[in-house]
Amino acid sequence: MMPAMLGTTVTARACANIALVKYWGKRDAALNVPAAGSLSFTLDGLRTETSVRFGPELSVDTMTLDGREAGSKEIARTSEWLDLVRARAGISTRAAVHSTNHFPTASGLASSASGFAALAVAASNAAGLTLSLRELSILARQGSGSAARSIFADFVRMHAGHSADGSDAFAEPIASPLASRVRMVICVVGGGAPKLYSSRDAMDHTEATSPLYRAWVDCVPADLRTAEQALRDGDLATLGTVTEANTLAMHASAMAARPAVIYWQPTTLALLHRVRELRHDGLAAWATMDAGPHVKVLTDDATAETLAATLRTVPGVSNVIISGAGPAASVVTP
Ligand code: PMV
Repeated sequence: MMPAMLGTTVTARACANIALVKYWGKRDAALNVPAAGSLSFTLDGLRTETSVRFGPELSVDTMTLDGREAGSKEIARTSEWLDLVRARAGISTRAAVHSTNHFPTASGLASSASGFAALAVAASNAAGLTLSLRELSILARQGSGSAARSIFADFVRMHAGHSADGSDAFAEPIASPLASRVRMVICVVGGGAPKLYSSRDAMDHTEATSPLYRAWVDCVPADLRTAEQALRDGDLATLGTVTEANTLAMHASAMAARPAVIYWQPTTLALLHRVRELRHDGLAAWATMDAGPHVKVLTDDATAETLAATLRTVPGVSNVIISGAGPAASVVTP
């Protein structure tokens, strides 16, 4: 698609993603380069729509989130990120950003991945840039590490890279026969209350103080190899096993930080046990948790409804959402 003329509003859409092999810790904080790779599943139905217009009449960047003016911290973070786009396009024009999350009510899910992926597509187009998918992924990463993965559909692999400038820290899709039949059953715990520590602060704190941080980073490459092979083989059981083991390793490193980062609530642990029991009974179900109390369960299309009905009865679960594979980020054509 042709890039837009400056002054034109461009709207883009991107979906959230859930990591099966987690990103937790940075190799370079300034460039937001991860310490290790990660692997994720893009979620259909959990999407952000963002429109951007660079307006010569604007004296500052402005931003609305779900129809309301964004807070000063969010505007500052976005503005700093927009400077990367402006530098690349050779412009100094300020922008008006409108971002809306079309997430199921009270999903309690982080939207920074879909948010920065949609912003990268909309802002680069609105600035007149034509970027490759790899360049878009790198740009999204500079806003939020997990956003680099939301540029792509289905299963996605993020590379940590080795370069000093972060140019080889990008995501790319991985083809798998599992894409059409995998489902995530998302169990929302505690009504989606705001979290105590952001993933950004908590991973920095884990890196700085946890005696288990190195062990965590060191276990990721083998988990990635196992997950990638499972995706190629269409082996859901192996993918699920490494998914659950990897999230527990990530949380163990965070819990060992000083002071500890504990995202789990009693309901989180109850769900984790329930998933293990159901698996023991023969159901395809493997749990993963991120920087919050919610439990996301990897399963298949044949099991998702039964699993959701069972997990909905666990006390403290406020909502259960089933999601299949989502599409790549794209410009929304008017
Ligand atoms: O992209 P961030 O800075 O919100 O970090 C994401 C961290 C986790 O969700 C816990 C793991 C991941 O890989 O998405």
